[in-house]
Amino acid sequence: MASRIPQAFIDELLDRTDIVDLVDGHVKLKKTGRNYSACCPFHKEKTPSFSVAPDKQFYYCFGCGAGGNAIGFMMQLANMNFPEAVEELAGKAGLTVPKDDSITSKAASAASQAKTQARNQAYALLNSASQYYQSQLRRHPDRQKAVTYLKGRGLNGQIAQRFGVGYAPAGWQNLMQELAPKKEQEQALIDAGMAVEKEENKRRYDRFRDRIMFPIKDYKGRIIAFGGRVLGDDKPKYLNSPETVVFHKQKELYGLYEARQHERNLKRIMVVEGYMDVVALAQHDINYAVATLGTSTSSFHLERIFKLVSEVVFCFDGDAAGLKAADRAMHTCLPFMADGRQARFLLLPDGEDPDSLVRQEGKDQFTARIVDATPLSDFLFQRLSQDLDPHNLEHRAKLATDASPLIATIPKGIMHSMMEARLSKITGLDKDTLAELSALKTPIMTEESNIQDSANTQQKNSATALDAPTIRSRNSNANDKGHHKGDSREYPDYPIAGAQPDHLQDAQHWTQEYHEQHQATSTDDPLTALKPYFSATLPKVQNPAHAALRIILRHPETAEHVPQIPSHLSALKMQDAGVLIQLLNTVQDMFQTLKRWPNPAELHIECATWDAWPMLRQLAAMESLLPQGNYPQQLEEAISRLLGHHFEERLNQLLHLASQPNADASIKKQLKELLREKEELQKRLKSRQ
Ligand code: UTP
Ligand code: MN
Repeated sequence: MASRIPQAFIDELLDRTDIVDLVDGHVKLKKTGRNYSACCPFHKEKTPSFSVAPDKQFYYCFGCGAGGNAIGFMMQLANMNFPEAVEELAGKAGLTVPKDDSITSKAASAASQAKTQARNQAYALLNSASQYYQSQLRRHPDRQKAVTYLKGRGLNGQIAQRFGVGYAPAGWQNLMQELAPKKEQEQALIDAGMAVEKEENKRRYDRFRDRIMFPIKDYKGRIIAFGGRVLGDDKPKYLNSPETVVFHKQKELYGLYEARQHERNLKRIMVVEGYMDVVALAQHDINYAVATLGTSTSSFHLERIFKLVSEVVFCFDGDAAGLKAADRAMHTCLPFMADGRQARFLLLPDGEDPDSLVRQEGKDQFTARIVDATPLSDFLFQRLSQDLDPHNLEHRAKLATDASPLIATIPKGIMHSMMEARLSKITGLDKDTLAELSALKTPIMTEESNIQDSANTQQKNSATALDAPTIRSRNSNANDKGHHKGDSREYPDYPIAGAQPDHLQDAQHWTQEYHEQHQATSTDDPLTALKPYFSATLPKVQNPAHAALRIILRHPETAEHVPQIPSHLSALKMQDAGVLIQLLNTVQDMFQTLKRWPNPAELHIECATWDAWPMLRQLAAMESLLPQGNYPQQLEEAISRLLGHHFEERLNQLLHLASQPNADASIKKQLKELLREKEELQKRLKSRQ
């Protein structure tokens, strides 16, 4: 007779399985409101009537009536019986199915039952603790100092309530007395991370004392941990719950549950560093920020984020530590960049964090920063080519060697191809060579390279960029989090995800020296003239051709403001300038035929057969990136930026040629002509303002 699977195990299994993940692995789910939908895997259909509810952990098909939990889904999908489906899911969750008829599995079953119980007990205790802390914020004799602190940080009662902010009063036994009045109840409080037992004398006391308390919730809204902030300048500034049966800090994002409560249908999620940043942003009506809990952004985090939205913005300080954190996030993010997803980077001015900045400048200006954040692709090239010299072959090789393995981790698709093409264009290396480079495990430009700054060599890190995201060390130095600029305080409760390649930072030093050495000879290099072009392909902000394309795709009527295609646009080497001209021509042609400007859909149909369409479609989809406002003016600006690049490019070339001893007169003539054109353009632009 088949053995019975203990209910406790089934409960644990369902608790550990996310039905959204499970179903998504078989049929691609699309977020629709609070649920997900897809075409039903159990009957033939063209329009989706199959839906999955993450909060109920249930699926249902309105077409054929199929429905159930994760186990039911597995049974129906793979035509399995109950034990088989449980076995399958247990495998995925890393659990072993206990069998009632063996002694060992009886023990396992008891253990898993005990675990489920422990978890439920922890949830209940943490929930009571949160109630208690919140009540202390309302009732405790010292409440005023906590309230004053929160007000001083710009938070009102409503926001405090939304985030369940509370106050843990000073004293060693408050929570203990409240939640564990009997000795035998104390262990549960310790297990939940809320009380501590001193090893030497076995004294037990509250973990959190005289702190502002931030409850941390899981995706189902259950409280799983706390972060507690001192009201003054004591150390540690934040104390966090330890790892417990319900809390794994690598996986959780503070504020995600609250964000989803506020808006089920989130469009983007912004990852910030601190509790206070999340809450302050919400106070200013920016309700999609989440914080990692003192760790760097992990793959767990990104998996969860991209389940919910297609756009993530990473927001970090603009100092060295913030850049380092951004580099890590970039590495971790690349494998997630399937088509249709976007990641962007917002680096704040040195010394500011989202909390301080949003309070200074308010919602609109801060949102403008978010909208302007650097796309992942630009960020990658910016970071890797920072301080590299474009006319130096070795530098370009370094860029190729560093970038290829990173680009290789992007899933095949538009972004992958565009990045490959871009790298190829910048480095002048063909696809095959780059593919070979991406297969190399270690960057070639290390010690052997004679342009290395010797002062930096002891810092060398041989980890490849590819390995970087998976290297994690619990023992790495707490200062690593660098937000804490150079001061060496330690957070006993503040583990840091670890080692990352330092070659990005190294680059800064050695290239400086290199520049100095080579200044004298560099004009002999024929590539010098291309330098402005090189920097133009590594824009701080977006490629202006893309900016222009995006505006026209969404607002074709703006083409009215580009009455004739500026003649030099076509000679432009800027990426995708050719497509821009094609698009402008098409819109103008359609205007002739239709006697009106086409709407976006009409235009898109017209372009759908172009080779560049996948790229265009992606640009068109990025509506949210388009700054609101005066589109004709934005288009004009983009086009004049393009022309500006072109003039500079040609000017540099001609200046270089003209400076050669054997330069002929025609070059000078061309130079004059160019300057005249430039003047004309400037006049034209002025007259339009
Ligand atoms: P920060 O030091 O940047 O603090 O830590 P903050 O968020 O700006 O805090 P306020 O504005 O002074 O209140 C960012 C995050 O790092 C973790 C916390 O998760 C914090 O939100 N951290 C920091 C700790 O866990 N412990 C600490 O002692 C400090
Ligand atoms: Mn802060």
